[in-house]
Amino acid sequence: MHAIPHLMTLADLTGPQILRLVTHAHFLKQVSLPWLAPQFTTQGKRGQLRMPSQSLFNKSIALLFSKRSTRTRVAAETASVLLGGRALFLGREDIQLGVNESARDTARVIGGMCQGIFARVGDHSEIEEIARHSPVPVLNALSSLWHPTQTLADVLTLHEHAAVFDGQPIQETKPYKIVSLPKLRPLTVAYVGDSANVLHDMLVTYPRLGHSLRVATPPQPMYQCPEPVWKRVRELGCDKKIWWGSDPREAVKGADVVVTDTWISMGQEAEKEQRLKDFQGYQVTEQLCAEGGANPNWKFLHCLPRKPHEVDDEVFYGRRSLVWRESDNRKWSIMAAFDLLFGKWDITGERGLR
Ligand code: CP
Ligand code: NVA
Repeated sequence: MHAIPHLMTLADLTGPQILRLVTHAHFLKQVSLPWLAPQFTTQGKRGQLRMPSQSLFNKSIALLFSKRSTRTRVAAETASVLLGGRALFLGREDIQLGVNESARDTARVIGGMCQGIFARVGDHSEIEEIARHSPVPVLNALSSLWHPTQTLADVLTLHEHAAVFDGQPIQETKPYKIVSLPKLRPLTVAYVGDSANVLHDMLVTYPRLGHSLRVATPPQPMYQCPEPVWKRVRELGCDKKIWWGSDPREAVKGADVVVTDTWISMGQEAEKEQRLKDFQGYQVTEQLCAEGGANPNWKFLHCLPRKPHEVDDEVFYGRRSLVWRESDNRKWSIMAAFDLLFGKWDITGERGLR
């Protein structure tokens, strides 16, 4: 009997296990892209293509989402198709959860019919409760504390652009050639914004992959790292590679990458006015990064959806922005996680499956 594997945050994995997942995402992307390209529709050429893992063949994955989603949902549904399975979107208006039925009972019922649960919840305790009672693996699709599949996509994006931080131009993907994951030199990653789920998985990941993090959040206590997250950061020894202050200019000093997220996460709409006031001066702009002394080749990441007050159009739509590739990569990193967690029950690599 195997214990049921779950993934709540990348803090649950070691650095090498995270890199294994990212490497697998890169591989699946290269194997899968030609299947989606019209020029490969003739039988002859298809015959030469490699098949992506079919580990979800005949399997169904529940997308248990109590919040909105564009990227995570579409990535999960389309990745399931490529893995030979199907995903069922179960939004908050669709099922009994939270109105007539508990998380515990819902997890048992869905887990009796589906082979994996990808859950987007409000408070993090909700996904912990689902995982406690689910007979099948549970993957976090975003909770109040963590957003692991976002960080996986971001790490993949940085590796794909390994050369650009030293001034090389951005290369287009060549989908018909399988190459290994480009090596990435240690980077300085700056985050300017709110201490929320997206940042939290960065905090437990980047330092263990050899990168340093510089974070600026407004000084008020509500924008500091929640204690349960900082405890994991400290336990993993990540705090040694993190600088944290409240001056965005200080944060971007030497930055190879600048990252932000929404200032008003889903569920915080009532705090909008206060937050817009508190985040004055935190907009990512060319001027901010020049004044702060970022690497002249700095690049920009954002999980999306984006509001212009967080980052201006010049940066967001400009030459520094990697956001579209980052968003495409949600699909490949979710595909890797689905393959290894739901298809093979081998998210840690301990069963030696590929
Ligand atoms: N980045 C992200 O999780 O986007 P969605 O909310 O659209 O899934
Ligand atoms: N911090 C944001 C991320 C959205 C992808 C939120 O929780 O709404």
